Amino acid sequence: MEFRNVIRNRLDGKNSDEELRLVAQGAADGSVPDYQLSAWLMAAYCRPLSIDETAALTVAMANSGQRIDLTGLPRPWVDKHSTGGVGDKTSLVVLPLLAACGITIVKMSGRGLGITGGTVDKLESIPGFRMDLTPEEMKAQAKEIGIAITGQSQDLAPADKALYAIRDVTATVDSIPLIVSSILSKKIAGGAEIVVLDVKCGSGAFMTNLERASELAQALVLIGNRAGLSTHAVITDMSQPLGRAVGNILEVREAVEILTGGIGRFAELCVALAAHTLVAAGKAADSDEATRLARETLSSGRAADEAKQWFRTQGATLDVFNDRLPEAPIKLVVNNTFGNGWVEQVDASVVGKTVVALGGGRENKSDTIDPLVGVECLKHVADTVQEGEPLFVVHASTEKAAQAACANLLSAISVSSRSVPEPPLILNTYG
Ligand code: URA
Repeated sequence: MEFRNVIRNRLDGKNSDEELRLVAQGAADGSVPDYQLSAWLMAAYCRPLSIDETAALTVAMANSGQRIDLTGLPRPWVDKHSTGGVGDKTSLVVLPLLAACGITIVKMSGRGLGITGGTVDKLESIPGFRMDLTPEEMKAQAKEIGIAITGQSQDLAPADKALYAIRDVTATVDSIPLIVSSILSKKIAGGAEIVVLDVKCGSGAFMTNLERASELAQALVLIGNRAGLSTHAVITDMSQPLGRAVGNILEVREAVEILTGGIGRFAELCVALAAHTLVAAGKAADSDEATRLARETLSSGRAADEAKQWFRTQGATLDVFNDRLPEAPIKLVVNNTFGNGWVEQVDASVVGKTVVALGGGRENKSDTIDPLVGVECLKHVADTVQEGEPLFVVHASTEKAAQAACANLLSAISVSSRSVPEPPLILNTYG
């Protein structure tokens, strides 16, 4: 089959299953050149794939490499995935919590791109932590300790790796069928039977409004269920940074705080996502029981013990629970200059861009990042604030970078003279 016909058919709005298999296989093995894949992706962006086509492409991408068979491991096999946000370190808390409840977690995570950070970068900021486990190592580790996470490799869903790199440079990331096939192909290849998807919504996420986030969540649930995964989606707020820390090692530190008794909005989100997953996995009868179980697993220290074992087993040479973590050389406090009042906005997108500019995120896939830099957000929407009170702490590698970050961060904040309600954490659930 000539690939130019596959492109032409996409422009006419229709590809057969065989053609979609050719897209996935051609991307994975390099037999279709990037310029033709780029043309197909742009055609798919303009003439979006139907539900049937998205399902066929998803399965073809999942089959483009190895698929981990988790037979022999304790059930249920669960994967939790976030579409990505600013300060989103929930996986570092929720995954060991779930593993401590007897759920097997095998997961492929991604690197951060643009303002949305990635779990791979956060875990790699822990010296020694390995994110290159082979499928065989993943399975063996999950059997031993209940949890294993790897980065994206040529082994699992290689079609996604190739297509995502082209989407990134051809402005075709923001297409719901392409996002759905990208996310779910990796979940299927990873071997999970239950998937909980945290669809982030707001200025710090791919989906900036609830309508688009709902469209994505519903498509994920529909296609995931069709592909045989029990799929659940939770739309959560990403209009302001999640928790206090944005930046890789800072986020690890905050995750450790929550695992060892920390409280607040980020902790509440971890409990809510864990509870949703515990119900989906049959570990609790309803949301109340699941919430109690999630809280108890955190407060008893069982989630922290699981995380310690996980980090050690996966190669960490530094004990993030006891050792002093490395820090950026410069710290600068940004104080409130807007008068007394209530915080009305902490724009997640501005904070995310500031962290990228500090070197804590990447503009391009090939950029290297500085794991130590970032921003601590000391105030959140609805908090009271006094003139001169600290709003942020910038962690930077140079004085100049820190000063530039301070100026940006002040544009993220607005303060109201009237009280402001706290925005809801969970905006909707599907599945
Ligand atoms: N996350 C993914 O894994 N793929 C996308 O296309 C977007 C977000």
